[in-house]
Amino acid sequence: MPQLSLADAPVRRWMEASRRRKSRRSFDGSPVPEADLDALAEAADRFRPFPGARSVLVRTAPERLFKGVIGGYGRISGAPSALLFVGKPDTPGAEVGVGYTGEMLVLEATALGLGTCWVGGLFSSRVAREAASLNSHERVYAVSPIGTPARQVTRAERVVYGMRKPKARRFVEEIAPGLADPEWPAWARPGVEAVRIAPSAYNRQPWRFRSEGTAVVIAFDGPDTPVVSKRLDCGIAMCHFELAVRAAGASGSWRILDHRSDIARFTLG
Ligand SMILES: Cc1cc2nc3c(=O)[nH]c(=O)nc-3n(C[C@H](O)[C@H](O)[C@H](O)COP(=O)(O)O)c2cc1C
Repeated sequence: MPQLSLADAPVRRWMEASRRRKSRRSFDGSPVPEADLDALAEAADRFRPFPGARSVLVRTAPERLFKGVIGGYGRISGAPSALLFVGKPDTPGAEVGVGYTGEMLVLEATALGLGTCWVGGLFSSRVAREAASLNSHERVYAVSPIGTPARQVTRAERVVYGMRKPKARRFVEEIAPGLADPEWPAWARPGVEAVRIAPSAYNRQPWRFRSEGTAVVIAFDGPDTPVVSKRLDCGIAMCHFELAVRAAGASGSWRILDHRSDIARFTLG
């Protein structure tokens, strides 16, 4: 099973971005400066720690990429560019790798001052495939608009925020029971704390952590869901966890488990 780590990642830059990031769904339509697009394209090439998972920058987002439904999430509007989060479904742990790899790019875009929003269901996979000329073994698991967010949170966004309560976060005790107890490794605490503000589909925060000797295991709660797998959310959480552990001076890596609801094990070293 593949191993994942943020070795070579700009830890402080992304940690800082992770605190500022929030999903934005309305953009002002202005083009993203070429230098920022070049920086994102370079980051997409450089940060590919998982076999088969990659992020693809689409400089001019096709209009029909994003869809909207009444009563659900609103449509993404005014985004000039997009990121596609791509993986190979036949690779074990593909969704986990796509979440982890994609969040690196989301944080880099945030660090560049751009708005982002993971979109797992409401996009056209056909339009996305065409925009990125994928090969037949690849699938687009999610996309994100990229652009300058509308100056104010729009009415449409407020409706989504009210519905999904983006600020409501689970307590640490719920996602990592007993975290304060001595059997938990002390280095894991900043990691778990940092995961609280990670994005997840429907803000469901399905990640659960447990200690296993000197290691930490991430799993998801309840059954998995068909359209947007909780494995994607967990991959995103793993990125945030590891950033904070590294920012606190420790380093290590994740080994994918992908056994039932167990996703991966993090060990120092
Ligand atoms: C895998 C994934 C899929 C998502 N899908 C959508 C989506 O289809 N439409 C949307 O507007 N937001 C989507 N979101 C954004 C979440 O609703 C958002 O991350 C969550 O409410 C927390 O808010 P925050 O990102 O502002 O912290 C998705 C997030 C993730 C991680």
